[in-house]
Amino acid sequence: MTTCRLHAFPDTEAFARHLRRATGLGLAQVALHHFPDGESLIRIKPPAGDHAILVRSLHDPNTKLIETLLAADALRRAGARRVTLVAPYLPYMRQDTVFTPGEPISQKVIGSCLANAFDRVLTIEAHLHRVSRLSEAISCRAQSVSAVPAIAAWVKRTNTNTLVVGPDEESASWVRGIARAAQVPWIVGRKERLGDHRVRISFPLLPSSSRAVIIDDIASSGATLAVAARTLRRQGIATVEAVIVHAIFAPGALTRIHCAGIRTLVSCDTVPHSTNAIPSAPLVATSLMRGLR
Ligand code: R5P
Repeated sequence: MTTCRLHAFPDTEAFARHLRRATGLGLAQVALHHFPDGESLIRIKPPAGDHAILVRSLHDPNTKLIETLLAADALRRAGARRVTLVAPYLPYMRQDTVFTPGEPISQKVIGSCLANAFDRVLTIEAHLHRVSRLSEAISCRAQSVSAVPAIAAWVKRTNTNTLVVGPDEESASWVRGIARAAQVPWIVGRKERLGDHRVRISFPLLPSSSRAVIIDDIASSGATLAVAARTLRRQGIATVEAVIVHAIFAPGALTRIHCAGIRTLVSCDTVPHSTNAIPSAPLVATSLMRGLR
C-alpha cells in the first residue's frame, strides 16, 4: 500500500494543518537551520512516505525556493518515490516574457527548476497571462487551482448589492467567473503600469451600485488597489472593498491601500497575513486527493 505524508515548512504550518484536516493525511514539520553565512540546512522527519507532499508557500521567494529544492532532494533520499509540491503561492510567474531586452524569462527558469525537482506541483491562482496552463510553465504534472468558488462565496455572503471590479483586462475571465457565481454585475478597468509603485487605471461607465469589491490575484506595492479604489470613489461608488488571493504586501502597501479609502480588505490564506479571511486549503485538497487515486 502506498503511504502519503504531508511535510510542511514552519512558515506554512497553518495552511498545512488545514490541508491535513481536509485530506486526513499525516503531517510532519520540516526542520530548518540557517548557518551564520546565510546558507540553509533542511532536515525532514522520516518516514518520508512513498509519496511525500511538501507544503510551502513561496512568498519572499529567493531563499524559500532554494530551501524547497533542497527539501525535495532530502525527501527522495529518505525514500520518497514521488514528491509533490503544494505551494499555495507560486512566485516568478508574472515575468513570463522579455519585457525589456536583456531580461531573462524568469517564469521559464523557475519552472524548469521545479519540474526537475518535483513530480507534481499544485498551487492556487498562479499568475498566468501569456500561457494558459501551469504545465506550460512547469513541465510536470502542474496545476493551478482556481480560487473563484471561495471568493464568490465571500462576495455573496457579505452583500449581494455589489459591483465586482477587476483592475485590468488580464483579470477579466476570472472576475467574470466570480461575478457569475455570486450573481452580481462586473466590470474591468484598463491599467497601465508606469513603475513599481505607479499605475494608471480607467474604468468604463459604472452601473449604479453603492458598493464595489475590487478583486485581484496579488497585492504587492498596493498601487493597483489604491488607484482603482480612488478612481471608483471619484466615479461615485460610496463603499469600496477589496479581495485579493495572495497577500504579498511590500513595505508601505497596507498604508497606501487604507489611505485610498478601501474599507475592508480580505485575502485568501495562501500567504499568512492578518487580512486572511478566505480558507484556500479545501480548494487544494480536492485536487490533491483526486491525483492520489
Ligand atoms: C498584475 O497584473 C497583477 O494582477 C496585480 O494587479 C499586480 O501584481 C499588483 O501589483 P501592485 O500591488 O504592485 O500594484
